[in-house]
Amino acid sequence: MNWPKLTSDSINKKITEALNRNVNYRKAPILGIPATYLDSEVFYEDAPFLEDAPFLKTLIANPNHIGCHTLSGSEKIFKGTQEIEIELIRLCAEQIFEGAPEEQDGYVASGGTEANIQALWMYRNYFIEEFNAGINEIAVVYSTDSHYSLHKGTDLLNLTPIVLKVDEQTREIILSDLSSQIDESLKNGIRYFIINMNCSTTMFGSVDDIVKVTELLNEKNIVYKLHVDAAFGGFIYSFSKVNSVYTFKNLNITSITIDGHKMLQTPYGTGIFLVRKGFMKYVKNTKAQYVPGADHTLCGSRSGANAVAVWMILHTHGSDGWRSKIRSLIDLTTDVCCKLNALGIRFFRNPDINIIAINAEDISKEVAEKYFLVPDSYEHKPKWWKIVVMPHISRGVIDEFINELKSMNKKACNVNL
Ligand SMILES: Cc1ncc(COP(=O)(O)O)c(C=O)c1O
Repeated sequence: MNWPKLTSDSINKKITEALNRNVNYRKAPILGIPATYLDSEVFYEDAPFLEDAPFLKTLIANPNHIGCHTLSGSEKIFKGTQEIEIELIRLCAEQIFEGAPEEQDGYVASGGTEANIQALWMYRNYFIEEFNAGINEIAVVYSTDSHYSLHKGTDLLNLTPIVLKVDEQTREIILSDLSSQIDESLKNGIRYFIINMNCSTTMFGSVDDIVKVTELLNEKNIVYKLHVDAAFGGFIYSFSKVNSVYTFKNLNITSITIDGHKMLQTPYGTGIFLVRKGFMKYVKNTKAQYVPGADHTLCGSRSGANAVAVWMILHTHGSDGWRSKIRSLIDLTTDVCCKLNALGIRFFRNPDINIIAINAEDISKEVAEKYFLVPDSYEHKPKWWKIVVMPHISRGVIDEFINELKSMNKKACNVNL
């Protein structure tokens, strides 16, 4: 993994040049495109600060990145910024997830939800086209700790959900449950499986044991395609885990969701969908006749500024800078865990992720709410409250939180006496 850290001047130059390769609504005789620059009363192009603000400059130029640019052919007038998106997809697929050069496709989606649904949609069509599968023969397999977008996608696409149990303490998928649910569903007519593996889950930061799961699936000799939901962990785990098995080198993996707008601090609208070449064709929309190269994405029109934002952030840090930023957050998370241990407070934490899920029996609702901890359920009595150690969290706030927990423990001791 090695990409350069660039100065803000060279980033500005690169994005400005990309914008110059786009056709400018203000200068070119563009008569047929149902789009234009942003409202110039509000977003005026000659604001002096724009000179040094490539992301804002791109927002105002308003390129539409409709379609999938790593495939051949796209809207020519936004060629410059589309090239930035292609570079970004290649960086994520090849540098971060170790894919072979130019062997992956992808696009910047609205978020993790869209990227996950894109995967389910693509595999559903793949099984229908390649195996003549009936809709009732396709199931989506995911753990109960998976993000709700998996439920959403399964529902929208009319597929059969198979929800796997996890161990209450380790949050690991219970393999005997996976095995018996697969056997049962085969008896009930399911013949094709879309498997989702989490790297990591939203609530716990747990990372599914993809090696054990795929060993079992391969032993059973079932027909499956595997997607990785790394919406949360994508920009963390690949940097914190030595020899991650969540890469394109793992031949069991066909596609990966990552999200810039979580850890990477990019603007909302920066989910990323990555997939091995040869699969996007299953979602080609041949009715999109007015779009050069057709459309292969769930969302349709989308802002090219989002790809520019992710590209800029990755190049502002460089791979070494990003790794060291993640290291600091992981270390800070470990510090919090040590303090919780010292207080005898129970929690779940994967050592390579910056999430701590605290056992709700060990912390008062008042303290949890005061520090905006997120419960596993707003509808039922919470079993867990989670902390996500993000860049805005200072050691001072952590100390304050720990001190409150200490005094809460003291009060509990006094009551027991
Ligand atoms: C693991 C995981 N997958 C998918 C998503 C959905 O992402 P978005 O809200 O960007 O659609 C989230 C959001 O928290 C997530 O944590």
